[in-house]
Amino acid sequence: METRVIDLACEYERGVREGMRSLSRGDVFAIPTETVYGLAANALKPEAVRDIFHIKGRPGDNPLIVHIATLEMAFELARVTREAERLAEVFWPGPLTMVLPKRKHVPYEVTAGLQTVGLRMPAQPAVLEIINQTNLPIAAPSANKSGRPSPTTAQRVYEDFQGEIPLILDDGPCDIGLESTVVLLLDRPTIVRPGLITPQDIMDVLGDVVLDDHVLSIMSEDDKVLSPGMKYRHYAPRAHAVLVDGDEAFLPVFVLKEYERQIKAGKQCLIFATEETSRFYAAQNYVILGNRKHPETLCRSFYDALRMADDEGYDEIIIEGVALDGAGLAFMNRALRTTAFQVIQAGPEA
Ligand code: TXA
Ligand code: MG
Repeated sequence: METRVIDLACEYERGVREGMRSLSRGDVFAIPTETVYGLAANALKPEAVRDIFHIKGRPGDNPLIVHIATLEMAFELARVTREAERLAEVFWPGPLTMVLPKRKHVPYEVTAGLQTVGLRMPAQPAVLEIINQTNLPIAAPSANKSGRPSPTTAQRVYEDFQGEIPLILDDGPCDIGLESTVVLLLDRPTIVRPGLITPQDIMDVLGDVVLDDHVLSIMSEDDKVLSPGMKYRHYAPRAHAVLVDGDEAFLPVFVLKEYERQIKAGKQCLIFATEETSRFYAAQNYVILGNRKHPETLCRSFYDALRMADDEGYDEIIIEGVALDGAGLAFMNRALRTTAFQVIQAGPEA
């Protein structure tokens, strides 16, 4: 199968038209969103949804997010609570997924057998137009092969799915570069995946929110799983990765120590540094993800840096931790999963 890439910046109308055609036909195709690229298909067509799981290699028990274009559509697919309505007013279209009780006609293929469905209205004009014109909701996980870092450009989608899907809509690099915040609105509002919309943002609207324990800690066998996605290894490059966390003043020393250890073991090493710390790594391989005071900049470049490290053949990636404030929480949630929770604690030596 030939995979066509349509650049929305030059051919917006044709892109929308072809997207509508793919969606109506039940094809699996790739869409841009403000967070990451998605692997899209008609959410109401079980065979199309099954194809997403198959092409992505996704575990069958991990539900997909359903993308909608209007609040009415949300009401058709789920029991929208008053809390959800208030969040929608403030954050939709935008990087927030709300998990709500599903209505009968939402296929269990999408929800992986759950009675709930995750809904999101993406801030992407072409995608909203495709949904509106066809009146079809789009099921879409991130457009990466299961386990790989999420794609933030059409080129990365192409690398994973070339020859397997007919169409990729290209809208350039994603603004946010990290997946949406996922909040369960079933009992108390519970964040199961942090994103650019922070716990404080949700607190400000609802006056209540809790962060599930597993956002920052490893899941054990008998833990209650609120969101199946939490169980799996995610965002993993081929290289081995480790996180160095702790007091900022001590980070570079511990990063350098680990770097030395890896070099001695014959490994090609890359440091994921920040503007504030890169000067300590003059003699090492490093890439600057962004600025520690603006963790959203680290989020934006993280996935592409992981894929770049693989392209360049590194064996070992050493990632600097950041404080959990603002988007720092989302960054650390992804970094912990990337490293399979392998953390070196930086601090004053005992
Ligand atoms: O930003 C995003 O959310 C991107 C773009 C494409 O919209 N999509 C995305 O999808 O990240 P995916 O499939 O990679 O991640 C969806 C997450 C998974 O962790 C899944 O377990 C959780 O959302 N999820 C979906 N439906 C759920 C439900 N009914 N209950 C609990 N968790 C759910
Ligand atoms: Mg994903």
